[in-house]
Amino acid sequence: MSEQGLTITDDRTGKSYRLPIENGTVRAMDLRQIKTGPDDFGLMTYDPALMNTAATKSAITFIDGNKGILEYRGYPVEQLAENCSFLQVAYLILSGELPNEEQLAAWTYDITHHTFVHENIKTLMQAFRYDAHPMGMFISTVAALSTFYAEANQVSNAEARLAQIKRLIAKVPTIAAYTYRHNRGLRYVYPDNDLSYTGNFLNMMFKMTETKYTPNPALERALDVLFILHADHEQNCSTNAMRAIGSSCADPYSAAAGAAAALYGPLHGGANEEVLKMLTRIDHAENIPQFIERVKNGQGKLMGFGHRVYKNYDPRARIIKRVADDVFKVTGRNRLLDIALELERIALEDEYFISRKLYPNVDFYSGIIYQAMGLPVAMFPVMFAIPRTVGWLAQWQEMITDPEQKIARPRQIFVGHPRRDLPAKKS
Ligand code: CMC
Repeated sequence: MSEQGLTITDDRTGKSYRLPIENGTVRAMDLRQIKTGPDDFGLMTYDPALMNTAATKSAITFIDGNKGILEYRGYPVEQLAENCSFLQVAYLILSGELPNEEQLAAWTYDITHHTFVHENIKTLMQAFRYDAHPMGMFISTVAALSTFYAEANQVSNAEARLAQIKRLIAKVPTIAAYTYRHNRGLRYVYPDNDLSYTGNFLNMMFKMTETKYTPNPALERALDVLFILHADHEQNCSTNAMRAIGSSCADPYSAAAGAAAALYGPLHGGANEEVLKMLTRIDHAENIPQFIERVKNGQGKLMGFGHRVYKNYDPRARIIKRVADDVFKVTGRNRLLDIALELERIALEDEYFISRKLYPNVDFYSGIIYQAMGLPVAMFPVMFAIPRTVGWLAQWQEMITDPEQKIARPRQIFVGHPRRDLPAKKS
């Protein structure tokens, strides 16, 4: 008998069962033995939105939502954001350890030399309307990448997996920048291999007539920190989508496109876009009390506040506030910051938000920074998707190599019409 267990008595039959407890969980499949008779299917759990179900074991990201702690592979995100580059953190998240000098040089070389996309990708993107939402273009183009790499469906082959991982991480900034240039009617800019991951992204976004684009080092570093903060967040909605799609052995481009689609929604990665729209609508600090009253009366949400896991200040939001200061030194202050700061102050003193443990999340301040950098609001979810690609791929790889995982296939409680026959045909 296992040391820790849960004893359950089924009131329907009077029978008792002892289920082992491991890592603070009972296995849902252990409930299946609890039956009222031989024809009974067995007991299941009902958990809409998977609020209390661990669907996997994972060694990648640790979150303590009550204490506001976020760690990648054991390292606090604050230390990583302070001391590492995004590509170092990407390597850490994917492999489990920080790279040594040689490994980092090889990793950086590989990513840098996979940033180009096939010319047909450009042609594909040109088919979008001039005002297509960048996230729609991003999702479709990431999915289209699978058609360029026939071996991408060899998901059990570690070498083929690594090749797609490198390609995806390298190419998502290129696709993201092309969506922006497409909306602006500007020619697409090819990657510059002399630049860093984020420096090259700024080059592909903003290069105009200059022969060589030189990114502003403060903005390049700020973007690197923002990318580190968004790189992974354990079993969130889009990661769950990545794992679910990948569990059918679909190729990682198709799975990443599905994950990006999940990220697009306003309750997830689309929230940064909604925050900016909200702050713009509020327009002036004096309108905040009225706005808060409307939220409390159920007329809309305070976007960028609240989190399924964090019931404390989101540690990423704390770091982002500091990044904002660095960016505003270069770009000038975004006036929406004053509205955001006042909104946060008022909300954190209000009983409605206190009692529900609603604090600013990562999306509350990120949009203000992106806007100051000159990015249109519709690009914000894409800015979330670029770094999160690393997390999706790490989680996908972990799922593929986990012997306990199978195709994701939840159960349901059927509440529809019981069997009935079609009405007899009129003769
Ligand atoms: N504004 C006002 N009330 C809120 C908010 C909010 N932003 N978030 C939650 N509540 C209320 C909610 O109405 C409920 O109240 P009541 O108990 O009276 O019914 C209570 O707080 C609990 O909320 P919930 O909806 O049960 O919480 P959840 O865990 O299902 O939702 C959430 C989490 C992030 C979807 C939600 O807080 C939300 O919609 N926030 C705004 C959107 C947002 O900022 N999303 C970004 C999340 S962080 C980035 C990412 O990883 O995607």
